Parts: sequence; C-alpha cells; structure tokens
Amino acid sequence: NKEEIEKVKAVVRNVPDFPEPGIQFKDLTTLFKNPAALGIVRQAMVDLYRDKGVTKVVGIEARGFIGGAILAADLDAGFVPLRKPGKLPAETIKKSYAKEYGTDTIEIHRDAITPDDVVVLHDDLLATGGTMMAAYELVKAMNPKKIYLNFICGLTALHGRDVFPKDVEVTTLFDFD
Ligand code: PRP
Ligand code: MG
Repeated sequence: NKEEIEKVKAVVRNVPDFPEPGIQFKDLTTLFKNPAALGIVRQAMVDLYRDKGVTKVVGIEARGFIGGAILAADLDAGFVPLRKPGKLPAETIKKSYAKEYGTDTIEIHRDAITPDDVVVLHDDLLATGGTMMAAYELVKAMNPKKIYLNFICGLTALHGRDVFPKDVEVTTLFDFD
C-alpha cells in the first residue's frame, strides 16, 4: 500500500555529488539492507506480476540482479542475467547503447529466452532509460510472447519512460522528482 511505499522511499539514501559534482545519487543499498523495506519491495513486485504467467525474469547487471532474483523466486519463474561484455561463457547476442559519456554494451545468452516465454525485465532504477531500452531491444530480438518492464525506483525529471514504445507496460514502485 501507499503508506508502506512511502516508508520505503524514506530509507533511500541521497548522496550529493556522486559519482560527479551536481549529481544527487539515489542509493538503494540502504533500502536493501533494511529487512522491512526489502520485504515491502518484494511484496509489491510480486503483486504486480503474480497473475501474468511470467516464465522468466531478466535482471540487468549489476543492481538489477538483486530485485530480479527475488522476483523470479517469488513468481516461480527462472532468472536470466543480462551482463556487461565478456562475462557470459556461452554464445551471446549483444547490444551497444549511448551513455552520457561514450557507449556501453550488454549481453545475454542466445538460448536464455525462447518464443514461449513471458518476460519481466527488471532493473533497480530508471534514469534516462538508455540501459533498459537496450535491454528491451535485446530481449525483443529473442521473440518472447510478452515483455514487461519493471523498476524499483524512477527519476521522473529525466523522462526515461518516454523512450519505451507506448504499448509496453512499464512499472516503478515509487518515483523521485
Ligand atoms: C545504473 C542503474 C541502471 C542505470 C540507469 O546502473 O542501476 O542500470 O544506471 O540509468 P539509465 O536509465 O540512464 O540507463 P550502472 O550503469 O551505474 O551500473 P550498475 O548497475 O552495474 O551499478
Ligand atoms: Mg545498473
């Protein structure tokens, strides 16, 4: 419920000037280390996807592994890691995307998703949406039945939601202005 989510928001730590001057970093480690807050997040995520026939949760390295693995276990779904380059041992497909400075690449095992899958793509935080959009395109290329996008936290001012196709369901548990 709303009251519980407000409690969770309140334990997120704001770190000024990290990783560089002028950036207000939303530190979710203070949420993850708090048993009550983690429990509320866990319940809120599973409530969103319980009846959707989800077969795989894809978590984005690194901070998306935490909530993604919890959600997968709670949904009785499988967990798939989407990783930074050169980490996955078997055959992969990859996608490069623009960051604030330069580019980044993410990778997934070629056999990780099949056309009968219903996928939740999970990350901790939605900022510009660049990371998730690359992840979405990568998973989309593997042709699953359905892809949902989920974040614990969204940063409204960066308008990350606007980068995703209009017909894709995007959820955040809470947002900061
Ligand atoms: C952070 C965060 C998201 C992404 C959001 O990850 O965990 O994955 O940035 O930004 P965007 O919406 O502008 O793409 P980061 O790349 O810092 O790496 P980490 O998760 O490995 O710490
Ligand atoms: Mg990340």
